Amino acid sequence: MQLSTKHLLGIKDLLPSDIALILQTARQFKEVLQRPVKKVPSLRDVTIVNLFYENSTRTRISFELAEKRLGADTINFTASGSSAAKGETLLDTVNNILSMKVDMVVMRHSASGAPHFLAKHIPAAIINAGDGINEHPTQALLDALSITERLGSLEGKKVVLVGDIMHSRVALSNIYLLNKMGAEVMVAGPPTLIPKYIEAALHVKVEYNIKKALQWCDVANVLRIQLERQNQVLFSSLREYNLAYGVSRKLLDGLQKEIVIMHPGPINRGVEIDSDVADGNQSIILQQVENGVAVRMAALYLLAGKSSN
Ligand code: NCD
Repeated sequence: MQLSTKHLLGIKDLLPSDIALILQTARQFKEVLQRPVKKVPSLRDVTIVNLFYENSTRTRISFELAEKRLGADTINFTASGSSAAKGETLLDTVNNILSMKVDMVVMRHSASGAPHFLAKHIPAAIINAGDGINEHPTQALLDALSITERLGSLEGKKVVLVGDIMHSRVALSNIYLLNKMGAEVMVAGPPTLIPKYIEAALHVKVEYNIKKALQWCDVANVLRIQLERQNQVLFSSLREYNLAYGVSRKLLDGLQKEIVIMHPGPINRGVEIDSDVADGNQSIILQQVENGVAVRMAALYLLAGKSSN
């Protein structure tokens, strides 16, 4: 089986069969990662450059690990300390790197659409590791793998994305993926952080009351308030945000059921999620991070043109 696309720019462009193939391949790689020797030589002849124009901890380490576990040659580029700071354009930087015979590019950029632009101009396969407020496809895929491990499947499951929906690429990729795979999706948070018309545009439910949202769902994926992307005051203070929308132990204890708690990280403890919830037994936050490596191995492997067996 092969993916229908050459690049992984967003979940928007994937077919449900692509998503199922990536998840299935990731499960196979997860088995490899449990072995004493956590390596396979599948990408031994492939060279990958990681282009990170924006801060990242988890995603960058996760891609690097995935590449090393597959035996690829890797080069790491971070914008600070590079010639981007001397005024070189994105296309010039990438063309220079490609002339050194690079096969794949993993890219994070603060501009939405940056990887799509590159895909039009260079021959290498491109994986979007987060572009501005647009998409973060591998995060949605690892979230999906984590949900299926806990709940068996995505079909018919109720998932609420909580918090800063407006500025979250994790939210958009999750909405596309969950809708394509037959889950029911809700967004919850303050009206100022939820885009107008999202209900009709993206086929999601909208709820401004956090308690009602949590009571409805099987899974709550709690998002960070993206202060660095907000250029106006969208809520009064972080303290008030926590009081009105923070996911607390008390809120969870007040529900008539036990829901699964997720967060893509980085967590702002005491703002969108309290420590005892993030570290509690309903939380699968660290499993998400673990699954990130297997999902990225799957995406790299499939995009390198190898078929799943
Ligand atoms: C997210 C991101 O960078 O989009 N983090 C991640 O990749 N795990 C979410 C965030 O920054 O809040």
